[in-house]
Amino acid sequence: MIRGRVAIGAYRSRPIDPGRVEADVKSDDGVERRLPNSLQNEVAVTGPSVAEHPFRRECRKVLDEIRAQGRYRRFTPLARQADAFPVYHDATRPLPGHVRPVSAGDVVVWSSNDYLGMGVDPRVVEAGVAALREHGAGAGGTRNIAGTNPLHDELEAELASLHGKQAGLLFVSGYVSNQASLQTILTSLPGWIVFSDAQNHASMIAGIKGARGASCVIYRHNDLADLEAKLAAAPADAPKLIAFESVYSMDGDIADVRATCALAKRYGAMTYLDEVHAVGLYGPTGAGIAERDGVSDQVDIIEGTLAKGFGCHGGYVAGDADMIDYLRSSASGFIFTTSLPPSTVAAALASVRIVRRESQHRDRLFERVATLRDRLAAAGVPFTPTPSHIVPVRVGDAVLCTEISRRLMSEHGLYVTPINYPTVPRGSERLRLTPGPFHTDAMMDQLVHALHGLLPRLQEADVRAA
Ligand SMILES: Cc1ncc(COP(=O)(O)O)c(C=O)c1O
Repeated sequence: MIRGRVAIGAYRSRPIDPGRVEADVKSDDGVERRLPNSLQNEVAVTGPSVAEHPFRRECRKVLDEIRAQGRYRRFTPLARQADAFPVYHDATRPLPGHVRPVSAGDVVVWSSNDYLGMGVDPRVVEAGVAALREHGAGAGGTRNIAGTNPLHDELEAELASLHGKQAGLLFVSGYVSNQASLQTILTSLPGWIVFSDAQNHASMIAGIKGARGASCVIYRHNDLADLEAKLAAAPADAPKLIAFESVYSMDGDIADVRATCALAKRYGAMTYLDEVHAVGLYGPTGAGIAERDGVSDQVDIIEGTLAKGFGCHGGYVAGDADMIDYLRSSASGFIFTTSLPPSTVAAALASVRIVRRESQHRDRLFERVATLRDRLAAAGVPFTPTPSHIVPVRVGDAVLCTEISRRLMSEHGLYVTPINYPTVPRGSERLRLTPGPFHTDAMMDQLVHALHGLLPRLQEADVRAA
């Protein structure tokens, strides 16, 4: 029987009549209860009108500012063609049927994070389809509430083995795995100090910010001298964690994982490494930079995604069995959400297994990256040389960046995402190219030709005046 009071947002708590329950609510303690009809009605009629709410005025003001700065986000509806990747269909135009190669309405995408094209690998697709037929569309609950399929356990074991760790834990996305794991780790003991690279991803920052009680020390990006100075200045007996990424996806630079781990050992810190943009791509079996550099065993917790190099969806952490078990039992972002659908898990499992044993996908990716760089250089298109697979073309202005992207699409049938603030600092706006195994020489020539024509033309013109 339900007793007590339920708080719903800003509305006052009211006693519940256990005899008249109609609708589900979640109370502050996270427990699902049922709300009486009478209370539902009261909630509906007593709220402030949203049209007059200060929050709505704030929304409009901020959106107007974003528009004026040329960084308003317009999504481009593009339907990926599984049989023609990286060709997508411009979803605002009628489908041309199945005429390949490129036909009207087709767009060559240069910004996908499905770096290896595993999301369209027929074996991955078939594994997903088979699981969809066998197990249905959704997981049906959290991992605790009927949402654990043997496939979940199998994938966690596979990921643990990929990274040479004792255990793995799946989350619904890479974002959630970072946010939930960091927040949970950093609230486990009093006095945690987290040393966070200045360019860490928003999901890591969210986890760190959510850890009330932990202190955060931000060190200069990839600057080990600064990290060491900050470690040395911290109390020796405080629990410490260094949180960093291997491949930074916007600048395409790579952390010195070995040296960071050595510092961690010297100062008694744990290491938490986000390998989201590296898994599948680096190392002999695609386990990431830590594997490539032979230091997987030095990293305490490795975090990754199934959504980029593995072409599917979901996130995970891998590490020591007790630590992973603790996260499984304590991380809110793991416990209180419906688990990944079995079809996604089956597809990801197939993908991880293929990527581990077949290095040709990685080899072809890096050959394509080198070829694109050669062609851009030969045509005089400026790009930032990086030690990774990311090819940034610096533009330095949000309006210009968005305009170049728009014209690449409308005049050339090419999609390249403009990367503006807040994803990168103002003044460093860029186009971010991610060549993949399926970009042909002809596609590269088309891109290089288009950039060569558009970049100087638009950089000279005042596109804001247009
Ligand atoms: C460094 C980094 N970590 C985590 C994530 C989140 O991963 P996911 O897309 O699987 O949520 C991203 C997303 O792009 C990322 O760039």
